[in-house]
Amino acid sequence: SRPCSPKDFGFGAMACVCNATYCDTLEPLLLPPRCSYLKYESSKAGKRLERSEGKLQRGPAAPDLVLTLDPARRYQRVTGFGGSVTDAASINILSLSPDAQNHLLRSYFSEEGIEYNLVRVPMASCDFSTRPYTYDDWPGDFELKNFSLTEEDTKLKIPILHRIQALSKRPLSFYASPWTSPVWLKTNGEMKGKGSLKGKAGDKYHKTWANYFVRFLDEYAKHNITFWAVTAQNEPNAGLIIGYPFQCLGFTAELQRDFIAEDLGPALANSSHKDIRLIILDDNRIHLPHWAKVVLGDDSKAKRYVHGIGLHWYLDLIAPIKDTVAPTHELFPDYFLLFSEACAGSFFWEKDVVLGCWERGNEYSHSIIEYLNNYVTGWTDWNLALDVQGGPNWVKNYVDSPVIVDSANDLFYKQPMFYHMGHFSKFIPEDSQRVGLAASKDSRLETVGFLRPDGAAVVVILNDRAVGTIETVASANSIQTLLWRRQ
Ligand SMILES: *[C@@H]1O[C@H](CO)[C@@H](O)[C@H](O)[C@H]1NC(C)=O
Ligand SMILES: *[C@@H]1O[C@H](CO)[C@@H](O)[C@H](O)[C@H]1NC(C)=O
Ligand SMILES: *[C@@H]1O[C@H](CO)[C@@H](O)[C@H](O)[C@H]1NC(C)=O
Ligand SMILES: *[C@@H]1O[C@H](CO)[C@@H](O)[C@H](O)[C@H]1NC(C)=O
Repeated sequence: SRPCSPKDFGFGAMACVCNATYCDTLEPLLLPPRCSYLKYESSKAGKRLERSEGKLQRGPAAPDLVLTLDPARRYQRVTGFGGSVTDAASINILSLSPDAQNHLLRSYFSEEGIEYNLVRVPMASCDFSTRPYTYDDWPGDFELKNFSLTEEDTKLKIPILHRIQALSKRPLSFYASPWTSPVWLKTNGEMKGKGSLKGKAGDKYHKTWANYFVRFLDEYAKHNITFWAVTAQNEPNAGLIIGYPFQCLGFTAELQRDFIAEDLGPALANSSHKDIRLIILDDNRIHLPHWAKVVLGDDSKAKRYVHGIGLHWYLDLIAPIKDTVAPTHELFPDYFLLFSEACAGSFFWEKDVVLGCWERGNEYSHSIIEYLNNYVTGWTDWNLALDVQGGPNWVKNYVDSPVIVDSANDLFYKQPMFYHMGHFSKFIPEDSQRVGLAASKDSRLETVGFLRPDGAAVVVILNDRAVGTIETVASANSIQTLLWRRQ
């Protein structure tokens, strides 16, 4: 493995610099011998997924805090961790020289990197595009005769997705989300602002919009790209807001329920994509459990087409998880919860890109651990890579990303957020199962425990008395992943 080439921008921690000839790497993960454990640690002070090995102890230790893994208590199975191939991410990645591009994609998807397995893909444009467009901007084309992918698909996103497929050893799950329909299907005739589909569920406007999903999946299939899931709409509540500044399409929970029941559900079921998963909400958790009650309630005709509920992070501060996500799981345990979008630097008072900001990494890990401890099966970051400004974005809605590309100098920075993601994505593969993790007393540590499909245990901080104990010090501003064999 190769160490981080650090650069300090004066924002508290370092970013790791990669270019065409150098990038930090990890060894493929090999489980430790019996009675030993592996520790990976990152810290504000400068560790980046630093690996060490130790022996499980037998003797009675007397630490401040004992965490005990309880494999008999089983919770949700993991779908995975990942990020989004937006137009902006693709433009930034492809603005580097081929060798630097490879370092970037390998950092995210290969065994020498953090092994993401989830990829979200916008259907047509979003704010992280250089122009607004849909796949059929021909007014009145209800039969979608002129539906076609754009150069953003064929020259940017699809080539990146192919390279990701070639690099990844893990099975990948791609999922797609639309931001807006063609404007001629909308009440306001515009891509942005307050507007919904014209008419009502079951009519030609709704049928056309449902068929557009099927056409998108058909066209990507022609490029050998198969999707695991679609979301019914990115942030359906955005399109209910007057003056909303970028692509959106408004649905209330009732409108989404009826569109799925009458149009989208039947269209997918009657297509060659009938096994695709359908995810509702794809918006902030503040809308739960109301949204789920409406779309998945007893008398809903939509619920049989739905598999999961997608969550975004933007209003988490004002919507406690115990009042939103937890009751939703209790009411609807058969539907998976998937975190589908997060980014740092999105609020107007925040700086967009902060190179080497450790706290933004902490924000990611806080969110991931909180969601995993509340039945969420996976966590998807937003843009895989942005430029030094936090774009491109056609409405200047710049934000931060775990990877910031400086194409003028043919290099990119791996931020603390990148390594925080890696503490989960690399060690908790798909089909791992969350298990109980009890603490001997209250502490400020946040912890989560899993059993992997290979039987090994993974936790953030742990002390397992069943097979021995691991003594570790959680130093200030650090994150640790510990792994060991259970027999
Ligand atoms: C690439 O990064 C390495 C390690 O930081 C450095 O030694 C090398 O000079 C860089 N190459 C270029 C072209 O900047
Ligand atoms: C499809 O595009 C062609 C131009 O390529 C145009 O002449 C035709 O009117 C379009 N059809 C519809 C239904 O919009
Ligand atoms: C899709 O895969 C098939 C079989 O592997 C191959 O023959 C074909 O060229 C591929 N098509 C594209 C567009 O990549
Ligand atoms: C199912 O799809 C076929 C063509 O693929 C179409 O002819 C038929 O009308 C569709 N049925 C429904 C119920 O949408």
